[in-house]
Amino acid sequence: MSADIRPTGGKLGVLLPGMGAVATTFIAGIEAVKAGLGAPIGSLTQMGTIRLGQRTEDRSPRIKDFVPLADLDDIVCGGWDIFDEDVYTAARRSGVLDKDLLEDLRPQLEKIRPWPAVFDQRYVKKLHGTHVKGGESWMEKARLLIDDIERFKKANGCNRTVMVWCGSTEIFMETKPVHETIDAFELGLMENDPDISPSMVYAYAAIKTGTPFANGAPNLTCDTPALVELAKREGIPIGGKDFKTGQTLMKTILAPGFKARLLGVNGWFSTNILGNRDGEVLDDPESFKTKEQSKLSVLDHILQPHLYPDLYGEIHHKVRINYYPPRGDNKEGWDNIDIFGWLGYPMQIKVDFLCRDSILAAPIVLDLALFLDLAHRSGMSGIQEWLSFYFKSPQTAPGLYAEHDLFIQLMKLKNTLRHLKGETLITHLGTEYYD
Ligand SMILES: NC(=O)c1ccc[n+]([C@@H]2O[C@H](COP(=O)([O-])OP(=O)(O)OC[C@H]3O[C@@H](n4cnc5c(N)ncnc54)[C@H](O)[C@@H]3O)[C@@H](O)[C@H]2O)c1
Repeated sequence: MSADIRPTGGKLGVLLPGMGAVATTFIAGIEAVKAGLGAPIGSLTQMGTIRLGQRTEDRSPRIKDFVPLADLDDIVCGGWDIFDEDVYTAARRSGVLDKDLLEDLRPQLEKIRPWPAVFDQRYVKKLHGTHVKGGESWMEKARLLIDDIERFKKANGCNRTVMVWCGSTEIFMETKPVHETIDAFELGLMENDPDISPSMVYAYAAIKTGTPFANGAPNLTCDTPALVELAKREGIPIGGKDFKTGQTLMKTILAPGFKARLLGVNGWFSTNILGNRDGEVLDDPESFKTKEQSKLSVLDHILQPHLYPDLYGEIHHKVRINYYPPRGDNKEGWDNIDIFGWLGYPMQIKVDFLCRDSILAAPIVLDLALFLDLAHRSGMSGIQEWLSFYFKSPQTAPGLYAEHDLFIQLMKLKNTLRHLKGETLITHLGTEYYD
């Protein structure tokens, strides 16, 4: 039985709180693809295929031909930032894409200017925002965001919107009583509770306007009982946290391999140098703590030391991020992995990933926007665990550990699409070929 999926018809507004390196690389990338100046490499929705039925059937359509996704031509972008720079200027400053490409796309990019942001320096210590909203309380600010969204939808003829947080990493926060229920949270918004951060105000405004929300940073944001409950009540899909790009992507590719072959690991030292604004923000210990928790969690969950104490019971796992301006967005991530094999003999693996952070993140923004819109049109709401493929710290139901293994995450994502379309789920059992 296939799910009742509402057709796409009309424009999809993609709203981006935080129009820095990732968001501008995403927007410019969409424009480049539309203009035939580049290919959407790294995007499952644009380039991926999905096998259907038995291996002998030879049915592997493109994902975008299998499920109804918004077309790139129907995407309109808007967003907020604490600096009043249009997307062309912000993209130039971010230094990710070539100047020539940005020059070709200049007219489309210059047209997009961020709206004033909801911001408070208590939550991102390194930035001094100048382009920020007034409003006495968080609730008033949420209303101003809701006005922005409604105005944008009307001006661009959008019948649907999705929001992907691409703003800076906020300080480390934990769930407090104000996050426990919708009532407590709404009271907190009215009373300016300090345990509510700007990203939570955006998530609230998104849900209240029927806009699915994904969190690309490790902030707590919508990972609270109150916002999960609100999302379910309003029928809105949400997900997070923290785009899975460079070093953590590598970790979630390598670690499942070690575990599959029962190779022991007793040390994993990861260090990064990066020089973009994200690196500057993460130079603050409180923002770094949020990121560190997100980066550290993956190994434990993949390697399951409680099940394999002899192999993974004593891992020294360290993550360092160093702000080093000469590198700009072209991060370098080094990993030294100490492993051991037969009879405990030690070996080492060194990974030196000279990556480009925003080049890896942009296709994730696109896929999350399109899949969240699909989920919404399919009547799905609350946490979308099938999208954990894209996150370093996937949000899950309470009490459930997150699945970090990239390959299990991909299988889950594709099986969800098969399920939506009433296709047989693929288990890889395969006995039928030998009967
Ligand atoms: N690039 C990656 O590979 C990657 C991977 C995982 C997570 N992330 C996260 O994605 C986010 C964006 O990364 P980036 O490289 O584009 O950083 P960036 O610093 O270039 O962009 C972030 C933007 O958010 C703006 N901002 C901060 N607070 C805001 C607020 N309250 N409202 C609106 N705008 C606000 C900043 O002014 C800045 O322009 C960061 O939190 C980063 O940690 C990035």
